[in-house]
Amino acid sequence: MQEQIKNINSLEELQALYASVFGKNGTMTARLKEMKNLDNDARAALNTENTTLRELFKVRQAELEQAALMEKLAGERLDPTLDAAPENKGTIHPLTQALKEVSGILESFGYTMHTGPEVEDDWHNFTALNTPAHHPARDMQDTFFLPNGNVMRTQTSAIQIRAMEENGVPIKMFGVGATYRKEMDATHGPMFGQIEGLYIDKDITMADLIGDIRAFLARFFEVDNVELRIRPSYFPFTDPSIEIDMKFRGDKWLEIMGAGMVHPNVLRNCGVNPDEYQGFAFGFGWDRLAMLKYGLPDLRELYGNDVRWLRRYGF
Ligand code: DAH
Repeated sequence: MQEQIKNINSLEELQALYASVFGKNGTMTARLKEMKNLDNDARAALNTENTTLRELFKVRQAELEQAALMEKLAGERLDPTLDAAPENKGTIHPLTQALKEVSGILESFGYTMHTGPEVEDDWHNFTALNTPAHHPARDMQDTFFLPNGNVMRTQTSAIQIRAMEENGVPIKMFGVGATYRKEMDATHGPMFGQIEGLYIDKDITMADLIGDIRAFLARFFEVDNVELRIRPSYFPFTDPSIEIDMKFRGDKWLEIMGAGMVHPNVLRNCGVNPDEYQGFAFGFGWDRLAMLKYGLPDLRELYGNDVRWLRRYGF
C-alpha cells in the first residue's frame, strides 16, 4: 500500500485510492470498526498503520499539487523578449512644429507675435495695403468674397495694418494665421498658413531686411549659410518690392518669400509719417517652409489628418 501511494501520479487517482481505504466502505474504515475485537498489540499496530497511511496520502497530495502548480506556471511563463504591443503615441503635427520653430526664431530676433481675424474687411485686406478697389493688383489673389463685402483674408499682411493701427510705431512684429485663396494643386491649397513680418523704425533699410531673412532661413533650415537670390518684384504695399529665392541641394532655386520696403501710402494709412519712419515687410507661407524642411511632397496632405501619411514622413 505504501509503495502504491508513492507511485500514484495524479490527484484523481490518489483521491480514488484514498476513498477506497478511508471512505465509508474503505478497507481501513472496515478494519477500524473491528478494532474492538483485537488484542492490544494488534490495536497498536493498526493505529500506527492508520496514521502512517494518512500521513503518506497527505505528503503525496502535497507533492502532486506542487507538481501541478509548477506545470501551470511553466505554461503561463512570461517571455520578456517578445516585442511589446505597439503604442499609439501622438506627435506634434509638422505644421505646428514648423510654426513653433518659425515663431521661436522670429521672437529671438525681437519680433512679437500678432494675430487677426480670418474674416477680414476690405480696408485691412486691400485698401490700407495700397490696393484700392479696382486696383489691378487685387487680381494677384483669387479672393473668396463674402456676401456682406468682407473677404476671407487673402494675406496676413492685413495683420500688419491692425498692428500699426493699435500700437503705432516703432514696431517690430510678425503676424501669423490662416489665409484663403481660390486655388488648389500639390503646392497650393485653398487655405494655407502665412507669416507676415514688419519692422518700422527711423533708420531701417533693405540691408536690415536681407540680414534678418538670411539669419532666419539659416536658423530654420539648420545650416551655417544660405545662398539667396534677390529678384525685383511688385507688391502694391512695398516699394521697392523683392522676391527672395533660396538655393536647395546645391542647384535648385525655390521662391521663399515676398518682401520690400513698406510703401509710404501704407504708413500714411496707419497714421504714420513716412518722412519720419520707414521699414520693411515680408511674407511667406510657413506650410511651404515645413514641406521644404521635412521633405513633404504634397501640401494638401498636410491638412488631410491621415496619420499613416504623417508616419511615413517620420511624424
Ligand atoms: N502678402 C503677399 C502675398 O500674400 C506676401 C508679401 C509680399 C508680404 C511682400 C509682404 C511683402 O509683406 O512685403 O503674396
